[in-house]
Amino acid sequence: ALQIAVLASGSGSNLQSIIDAVERGALEAEICLVLCNRTDAYALERARKAGIPTATILHTEFETREAFDTAMIAALNAAGAELIVLAGFMRLLTPMFIQTFAGRIINIHPALLPSFKGAHGIADAVDYGVKLAGCTVHFVDECMDNGAIIAQAVVPCSTAESADVVQKRVLAFEHRIYPQVLQWIATKRVTLTGRKVTVQDTGLPKVVPD
Ligand code: GAR
Repeated sequence: ALQIAVLASGSGSNLQSIIDAVERGALEAEICLVLCNRTDAYALERARKAGIPTATILHTEFETREAFDTAMIAALNAAGAELIVLAGFMRLLTPMFIQTFAGRIINIHPALLPSFKGAHGIADAVDYGVKLAGCTVHFVDECMDNGAIIAQAVVPCSTAESADVVQKRVLAFEHRIYPQVLQWIATKRVTLTGRKVTVQDTGLPKVVPD
């Protein structure tokens, strides 16, 4: 099975959706490592409960981004990672890291890219007054939140709603599309050409709420 490593900094609810998809047979992959850059990331707890190997590499202990990324690359290679899955991983990766795993890193972002890049996608979209929020799964390239888009889900919202409320609604869709995209990749149905992604033979990705 495809060996995936999940990188997380926080709660790890996306990690949980991936663990659950593997356990119910909806994702033909093995999580070979959960790597966190914070000791207090609840993602670590989720991994341990599921019996998944973990690594904690603290960015604060490295003088440069390159040194931090070099340590992560060593851990990921030692674990046999074939696909790097960023799930709420809140560190920018160096070009060196991205080139090491070229075309094999994906990210989920809580906005409809290319709108609202950055660390506060939901709050920025809500502050802007959007009526449609959403989330995006994309390949990672050397520019933040810029790589080729694999899937998106659209989530209606109202300007009367707080960022917290919208965030919960978006997160529920993240939990649906991320394991789905991983299964497409695990079954080799995703092709990246330039910045265009084609997905074969899936039935259509679900992009609107039920
Ligand atoms: C998710 O909403 C994810 O899209 C976002 O962080 C959250 C992590 O939640 N990622 C980014 O903002 C990346 N720029 P989780 O730890 O519960 O999966």
